[in-house]
Amino acid sequence: MSEKAIGVFDSGLGGLTAVKELIKVLPQENIIYFGDTARVPYGNRSRETISKYAEQDAGFLLSKGVKMIIAACGTVSSNAVGLADTLTVPFTGVIVPTAAAAANATRNGKIGVIGTSATVNSGAYKKEILLRNDKIKVYQQDCPLFVSLVESGFISENDDIVKLVVERYLSAMKKEGIDTLILGCTHFPIISKAISNYLGKDVTLIDSGRETALYAANLLGNNHILNTANKMGTCRYYVSDTVESFRNTAEIFLDKSVEGEVSHISIEQVEL
Ligand code: DGL
Repeated sequence: MSEKAIGVFDSGLGGLTAVKELIKVLPQENIIYFGDTARVPYGNRSRETISKYAEQDAGFLLSKGVKMIIAACGTVSSNAVGLADTLTVPFTGVIVPTAAAAANATRNGKIGVIGTSATVNSGAYKKEILLRNDKIKVYQQDCPLFVSLVESGFISENDDIVKLVVERYLSAMKKEGIDTLILGCTHFPIISKAISNYLGKDVTLIDSGRETALYAANLLGNNHILNTANKMGTCRYYVSDTVESFRNTAEIFLDKSVEGEVSHISIEQVEL
């Protein structure tokens, strides 16, 4: 049994959608979350910059003595591909668990992938799906405006702006007849109702946070580091921008008010 925390990081607050799922799957685990709110968004940056930021983020979590690291961010997971090799603890990003779930879920062999521009341009999801089944057709679309919509509070499935942007981004893959869609960005589960209303109930939405939480539970078990303590775990949050801005937005992603302590850190000054 290990009471050490699981370290989770993201470019900002979106990774809290994965924390929400982790709490459901592994309620007894302690979690330390780092959100790089001073440098968000990562999704329109270069692979070099994303990789450098990811190393700093993971380095900060290691300095807190975590037993495992999860990159909850689609952009980091698809671009900082060498990160796992630099770490001394078990690690997962969101790509492998999510691609595996989508490849299992499709019935007609047509999968859509949506994410930030950096995620879609990396081709990481497509590569991972085709590794499992090279007959599957993968349709990709970057949806940067979804991130802005969610961060600005435009999340209702009845909002005309949300409906318009959903249609603009997803009409091509809807025409192709996808039956499975990967929500390949932390923010997208928040507008999943609008997405599902547009695509229809026969299209299965795969939530990367949910799949990664399930995968993390297996990884902890295989490494014999599950926390078997008979009590609820705690969450501790760190951000690189202000604590106030975290508190204002975090609820959208967590779907409840923030319970754990929140602190500011200067990520540029973390010693690796
Ligand atoms: N967390 C990012 C992702 O999942 C979205 C926000 C950003 O662009 O940094 O790709």
